[in-house]
Amino acid sequence: MQTAEAPDRDTSLVWKTARIPVQHWGLGIESLTRLQPHVRKAVEDFVATWRERHIPADATMADIPEDRCHIGKGLLLFGNAGTGKTTTACAVLATIRQRHPGGAGRILFVPFADYVQALIEHRNWRDLYQATGDEFAREKFMALQKLLDKVLTWPLVVLDDMGKEHHTASGYAADVFDALIRGRYRNALPTILTSNNKPGDWDKVYNPSMQSFLSEACEVVPMTGEDLRRAA
Ligand SMILES: Nc1ncnc2c1ncn2[C@@H]1O[C@H](COP(=O)(O)OP(=O)(O)O)[C@@H](O)[C@H]1O
Ligand SMILES: [Mg+2]
Repeated sequence: MQTAEAPDRDTSLVWKTARIPVQHWGLGIESLTRLQPHVRKAVEDFVATWRERHIPADATMADIPEDRCHIGKGLLLFGNAGTGKTTTACAVLATIRQRHPGGAGRILFVPFADYVQALIEHRNWRDLYQATGDEFAREKFMALQKLLDKVLTWPLVVLDDMGKEHHTASGYAADVFDALIRGRYRNALPTILTSNNKPGDWDKVYNPSMQSFLSEACEVVPMTGEDLRRAA
């Protein structure tokens, strides 16, 4: 039935732009029912301290918190399949967006394998365009460029399933990942990583310096519960 009140504004565009899987649209951290207490604490602290983590590019000295320990710091959620990593990461994105609807709340969800693939395709289309001037190649590489720019510059990005990218791409992925995470951290842009790999194995998956840098750039949150898919 029609009422005199304006209908709720459709927010689907927010979640589409953020590339959040549709299962997770609009569900913030309050929707996470079965969460281990230490994970709940980590995500609640994360959203509560957002303004100390992300410092916008136009910030002045007055915006810099006295305690700088949170600046640029993200989360690394690691654990076996089905422990709720992707769901938890998406819920943090949604809550940040809901609480910070302006520019400081721009959020993005990207499976890491898709990011690596986008980089490879971007390079190929760009090379083709440079060699031939082909208009279709130009459009392709410009579209990919937009996505890559967001991953580099948007305030909060989830890189889902690190370490699952195709094996042959993993040497390339290590370099890419290194540059991306270091750059984002330096620019006070927190990153949430999810992975099946234990942090102690990151030196094998990527490289030893990355392993130690990760504990500086992220709070490490083990997700050790049961497989929620099976429990459902
Ligand atoms: N906090 C939670 N409470 C209840 N169910 C959850 C929770 N987190 C995840 N789930 C459910 O568990 C299943 C696996 O979650 P998912 O986030 O995909 O795990 P992972 O990314 O670790 O493999 C999904 O069906 C999801 O809906
Ligand atoms: Mg997952």
